[in-house]
Amino acid sequence: MAKERIRIGIMGLGVVGSGVARILMEKADRIQAHIETPVELVRVLVRDPQKKRDFQVPGHLLTTSSRDILDDPDIDIVIEVMGGEIPAYKYIEGAIQSGKHVITANKEVMAKYGPELLTLAHQRGVDILYEASVGGGIPLIGPFQHDLAANKIISIQAIINGTTNYILTRMASEGAEFGAALAEAQALGYAEADPTNDIEGIDAVYKLAVLATLAFHLPVRPADIYREGISRLTSRDFRYARELGYAIKLLAIAKEENGMVEARVHPSLVPQGFLLAQIGGVNNAVCVQGDLVGTVVFYGPGAGSKPTSSAIVADLILLAKNITAGLTGRFRLREESGKTISPMDQVQTRYYLRMSVADHPGVLAQIATVLGEHQISIASVIQKEADPVSQTAEIVIMTHLAREADMQDSLAKIRALPPVVQERCFFLRAEG
Ligand SMILES: NC(=O)c1ccc[n+]([C@@H]2O[C@H](COP(=O)([O-])OP(=O)(O)OC[C@H]3O[C@@H](n4cnc5c(N)ncnc54)[C@H](OP(=O)(O)O)[C@@H]3O)[C@@H](O)[C@H]2O)c1
Repeated sequence: MAKERIRIGIMGLGVVGSGVARILMEKADRIQAHIETPVELVRVLVRDPQKKRDFQVPGHLLTTSSRDILDDPDIDIVIEVMGGEIPAYKYIEGAIQSGKHVITANKEVMAKYGPELLTLAHQRGVDILYEASVGGGIPLIGPFQHDLAANKIISIQAIINGTTNYILTRMASEGAEFGAALAEAQALGYAEADPTNDIEGIDAVYKLAVLATLAFHLPVRPADIYREGISRLTSRDFRYARELGYAIKLLAIAKEENGMVEARVHPSLVPQGFLLAQIGGVNNAVCVQGDLVGTVVFYGPGAGSKPTSSAIVADLILLAKNITAGLTGRFRLREESGKTISPMDQVQTRYYLRMSVADHPGVLAQIATVLGEHQISIASVIQKEADPVSQTAEIVIMTHLAREADMQDSLAKIRALPPVVQERCFFLRAEG
């Protein structure tokens, strides 16, 4: 029997929850124009009902008890915008178990438990939609589920953390050191007081896990993804990279070749001519290469109340249409057998090495010998001016393609060479 009304409970009324509640109340006509059945916001879960908020919902809708949403048989859709792993995961699971549809913006939960939640939803005949979990308002989940479905996905290369991209943009354009650029990002509200999740690449890992799972048809968990953050970068690296024709970006990369899926998040040198090198500030960009479509790029604001709410309300409109048409519970995560995650030490990239060495003849030959013994060939070398005080010189080496295991072995040996200043031997990977 057709529903008279679709009832919604929102869990969380912060940046995103307030944005969603505002659209539901202020743009009800626009939403209604898409769907036959009226939607109604009936409950909102918060921790502190007294808190002053950007958008005030009528007080009688607020509750501090999750049971008021999870146990209410009249609520059809739960919009989870609390964030964090627990209790959000438990609430999402509980909602699905009791036959409710879920819309979530929670990348951490979807990265860690997405495959299980999607399977459970399919078994229970309901849907879990999560467009807002990656890239804020940029359409990404829908394109992977629908628009790119005919393709075998070859690679994803993405800037999917606006905070780090802002910091790296400032380091590149102003010659700022990491600490100063981070402090500026915090002052502008682009970075949180505890920025660990962003600057250490954890947020990008969650997002890449969600995208790679969809793209390559196997569960890719956060623990499967190699991760390095941006806090060790110095302004010198940006200067040298520019001289060599590169920008430095925190990239989330996933590729598949012959059933082996590699997934990694780390700072990378990107050729200045590449589109990803041009992405500045807090914006996100995701380049996807498919065997049919070629390369497509999704670009835009990866966070913020309005863009993220735009994705959530789009999910809501789709879900409401499907509920009205009786077409729910159809989405299933397709898994392909015979695929495995490739270990990081098998990955092949090019490398940028920066090191301080004692300023006397023969040092470069020693380093080249170690690299040669590991089948790593040098593409270019720049030697910076020697420092007369410390009697050291800085050299920067770009290599051709090399295997990560070989590079790590070589670095251990290079660091042990007497002329090399151990703590000033640094490397980055290069794409393109
Ligand atoms: N902010 C963005 O631009 C953005 C973009 C994409 C995705 N997301 C995702 O969207 C989700 C929400 O982010 P946000 O920025 O809106 O977070 P937020 O501003 O910190 O808001 C969180 C809300 O959840 C409520 N809450 C948290 N834990 C709770 C609990 N245990 N019980 C009841 N209520 C609880 C808080 O209640 P009180 O207000 O009473 O404290 C608050 O209203 C996260 O998963 C985030 O990753 C955010």
